[in-house]
Amino acid sequence: MCGIIGYSGHREACGILLDGLERLEYRGYDSAGILVSDNGTFHTVKRSGRLSNLRAAVERHPLKGCCGMGHTRWATHGGPTDENAHPHGTERVMLVHNGIIENYLELRGLLTEQGYSFLSQTDTEVAACYLDYCYHGDPIDAIREALNKIEGAYAFVIMFSDHPDTIYAIRKDGPLLAALGDGENFVASDITAVISYTNRYFVLDEGEIAVVTPRRIRILGMDGKPREKAVQTVTWDIEQAQKDGYEHFMLKEIHEQPDALRHTISPRVKNGLPDWSGDGLPKDFFSRFERIQIVACGTAMHAGMIGKTIIEKLARIPVEVDIASEFRYRDPILTGNTLVIIVSQSGETADSLAALRLAKQMELSTLAIVNVAGSSIAREAEHVLYTFAGPEISVASTKAYSVQISLLYLIAFTLGQEKGLLSEEQVRVLTRQLFASAEAVRGALRLQERIEMSAKSLAGAEHLFFLGRGLDYALACEGSLKLKEVSYVHCEAYAAGELKHGTISLITEGVPVIALCTQTALLPKMLSNIKETTARGAKVFVIAKQGETISQDVADTVLLLDDFDDLFMPFPAVTVLQLIAYFTARQRGCDIDKPRNLAKSVTVE
Ligand code: F6R
Repeated sequence: MCGIIGYSGHREACGILLDGLERLEYRGYDSAGILVSDNGTFHTVKRSGRLSNLRAAVERHPLKGCCGMGHTRWATHGGPTDENAHPHGTERVMLVHNGIIENYLELRGLLTEQGYSFLSQTDTEVAACYLDYCYHGDPIDAIREALNKIEGAYAFVIMFSDHPDTIYAIRKDGPLLAALGDGENFVASDITAVISYTNRYFVLDEGEIAVVTPRRIRILGMDGKPREKAVQTVTWDIEQAQKDGYEHFMLKEIHEQPDALRHTISPRVKNGLPDWSGDGLPKDFFSRFERIQIVACGTAMHAGMIGKTIIEKLARIPVEVDIASEFRYRDPILTGNTLVIIVSQSGETADSLAALRLAKQMELSTLAIVNVAGSSIAREAEHVLYTFAGPEISVASTKAYSVQISLLYLIAFTLGQEKGLLSEEQVRVLTRQLFASAEAVRGALRLQERIEMSAKSLAGAEHLFFLGRGLDYALACEGSLKLKEVSYVHCEAYAAGELKHGTISLITEGVPVIALCTQTALLPKMLSNIKETTARGAKVFVIAKQGETISQDVADTVLLLDDFDDLFMPFPAVTVLQLIAYFTARQRGCDIDKPRNLAKSVTVE
């Protein structure tokens, strides 16, 4: 939620900040603002709405100065107005913020008594004024004093007018890094914001303060003492953070799945068998567990649902999947031999992070499956398995899902073998099939034109149903989420056998039903369930495998995927669902990469 950037260097800051915000806009796009310091005089421009509004305003009144900060907002406290846009503060102290200040009402009262008045409804302005209140000439002292009192989650970039070329950055439960350039340095929520200038950065730990000038970045602890930190380097480059000829990041990322799968699977396979030594997992790590608890949100949770089915099937170990925001408050019953797996693309999702911390408090083993290197979840989990999907910019997650499930498959194979349920030869065969899933995704991508055509008839729908059984039900949940979030068509995912227990009352003439029929063993049951809907006038789209017989009286449209083992069908099938969501949204003229009200990284509860 919210993207923040800061720059101190030898170039005009304005363009660099705006370009950085453009790359961070996926984190929130309710409003945007920048501040540039012209030798200590602060010039601020803020606009509600998309970044383009801010750009247009800045073009009319360019800001001069080589040090500044910027913010793109996902509104929490206070609506998406110009006044509530960041930066906030006073003539002496200004800041941008990602997070939520929990005790802002108490602080606001205290500051009001001290004569402060407020222009916005935000918690951020209160934090900025409180910092001003604590400021008596030494920025570090002021930051330390203020943060002693401020409660909540935050990443702040702060500027003091009497330190005109210095930016201060600090975080607690919000992502923030400081990046090293040549005669210029940066801070940002995420490396994509500054990847055109540098690929070298420090990840700030909780409570660390970065002091950034054109010449150096100093990292201090909350005690004010300097800290030594290792410089990290990103392995991908600017090309990967661009659209590369695709109309939208979402489409590009759907197409990147075969490569993302190979990059994620290959490092974990040696001599044809799963091998986790590169991830630092102890030998026979998985075999010590008798239960698995997967915790995640949204798409990552749907990946967990696939993981549950595969692990239970191949390794006969009970797996529970929880939505992180429920898990953390439901007082879960977990025993010492449970492995808690947290799945997260961003590695910053507040509820998933809290679930991880809860599991650690309960002294359970934790394993994170994360895409963003150095993110909070990756750093705090006992063990981490990185997915190598590269940057996922589209707010709707696509390639992250595929790579997440690929690792859950590999875990299932490992567990199956370690528990003595799968022979080495069986695991070799399964691992080969997992590699082949990349090719199966390519096969699904070849259906793109047909899917685009089919999406035309979905685009006018008001309601729509996704049906499936087994793995196809888990996929239906993901297909429905994807379609809702990008096309705003209301849809529901149902276990096909459950529909008649109430929801079938919503099936009327012309209601589209997308029926997933990729599980050969369950096909006869699915066909019966589909007929129950066609009998009530549903317009049915079937997704099945080549070679299956789907008669015309059952389906209006049939999309046939290359024949592949049932177990691995989620890879090509989810690709079809992602393309359906994409083309339906495109047909409806939606803002695909930045759907309304959403943000890529959900760092609030
Ligand atoms: C949907 C989507 C979200 C995320 C969810 C968790 O397309 O992207 O549902 O999957 O917010 O995010 P991460 O994986 O970053 O923890």
